[in-house]
Amino acid sequence: MPTSAQPPPPTPSDGSPEPVRWGFLATGKIARSVAADLALVPSSRLVAVGARRQESADAFVAEHAPGARAHGSYADLVTDPDVEVVYVASPHALHLEHARMAIEAGKHVLCEKPLTLDLPTATEMVRLAREHDVFLMEAMWTACHPVVLEVRRRLLARELGTPRQLRAELGFVVAADPDDRLLDPALGAGALLDMGIYPLTLAHLLLGEPEHLVATAALSDRGVDLDVAIAGRYPGGALATLSASMTSWSDRSAALATDRGRLELHGQFHHPEKAVFRPFRAGSTNDASGYDEPFEIHGSEPVVGRGYAHEVAEVDRCVRAGLRESPLVPHAQTLAIMAQLDDVRRQVGVTYDAT
Ligand SMILES: NC(=O)c1ccc[n+]([C@@H]2O[C@H](COP(=O)([O-])OP(=O)(O)OC[C@H]3O[C@@H](n4cnc5c(N)ncnc54)[C@H](OP(=O)(O)O)[C@@H]3O)[C@@H](O)[C@H]2O)c1
Repeated sequence: MPTSAQPPPPTPSDGSPEPVRWGFLATGKIARSVAADLALVPSSRLVAVGARRQESADAFVAEHAPGARAHGSYADLVTDPDVEVVYVASPHALHLEHARMAIEAGKHVLCEKPLTLDLPTATEMVRLAREHDVFLMEAMWTACHPVVLEVRRRLLARELGTPRQLRAELGFVVAADPDDRLLDPALGAGALLDMGIYPLTLAHLLLGEPEHLVATAALSDRGVDLDVAIAGRYPGGALATLSASMTSWSDRSAALATDRGRLELHGQFHHPEKAVFRPFRAGSTNDASGYDEPFEIHGSEPVVGRGYAHEVAEVDRCVRAGLRESPLVPHAQTLAIMAQLDDVRRQVGVTYDAT
């Protein structure tokens, strides 16, 4: 039951659309980060939060969503008549169950990545959204990030040359309890779905759909992929080496060599601060003196918050425009990358009981 009531938002007097009213399903780590960024987005308002226990919802509201209603069940959250968009922030193995609840209640959905554990269940979520005529987007914030979008635009416009070699790595040491979602196979544990989805997405965004992926992995004694390495061949003969790790620290960097120079994503590649391109000097050999002056690439708008604000704003824009999917994270792209994850999992021998 709700413990705190909030009046409906006032209609802005300047003629701008009413803020989109969000409800958060789950109160874990990512929900906290996204709530902080959502507070920076003028087109959004967090009006309700749902947790499995009332105390968790109350605590989240007190700390991260002052004034929102706190629901002690997900069912109460998705049937809250004031909520327009449900943000599903539970472990991946539960995304379909929780998105289904929201979709069947007629809510638009932003669902954390990966959309589900495999292609058949992801396809089912997309089917459900279409059947109920609601908006659905995977929370692939990298694809909404201003710097990534600008790099992609310049590559597509051939301003940076033809891509030849991409390297991207994401990893950190997971020191968690065995029943934590990062280590528990029942909740979809594994470096590939948690982290490897980012290098695969970056490659997909910058190079296109892969023609061929080969993968190897080191598995835990519970069959969880702790470390994954992937090599991919992309259209035009571009190659990618991509990795994810739950046992080691990576610098979370990415670099793309083209036939005209070298592009580096600064900061963490899946939400970079900026990109820097160093053009090769014509006729020189590829050593330190072989580059012209580097130039920086920034997004068309500044990065807001930690970068989640851009996916939130994209959902608001789409919902207010009556769209059912985002052009930045279209269903086909989400499903194509899910098929790549399935392919890699098959190659390295990781299965999930839940699917
Ligand atoms: N976009 C990003 O940068 C990013 C970063 C991290 C994670 N993620 C994604 O976000 C999702 C959640 O990750 P997280 O790091 O926030 O996980 P987390 O800290 O473990 O939180 C997960 C939340 O899910 C809810 N939940 C419902 N059923 C559960 C169950 N059986 N076991 C555990 N939790 C359950 C719980 O919320 P209540 O107790 O409130 O019900 C819990 O707090 C994952 O799919 C992950 O891939 C995305």
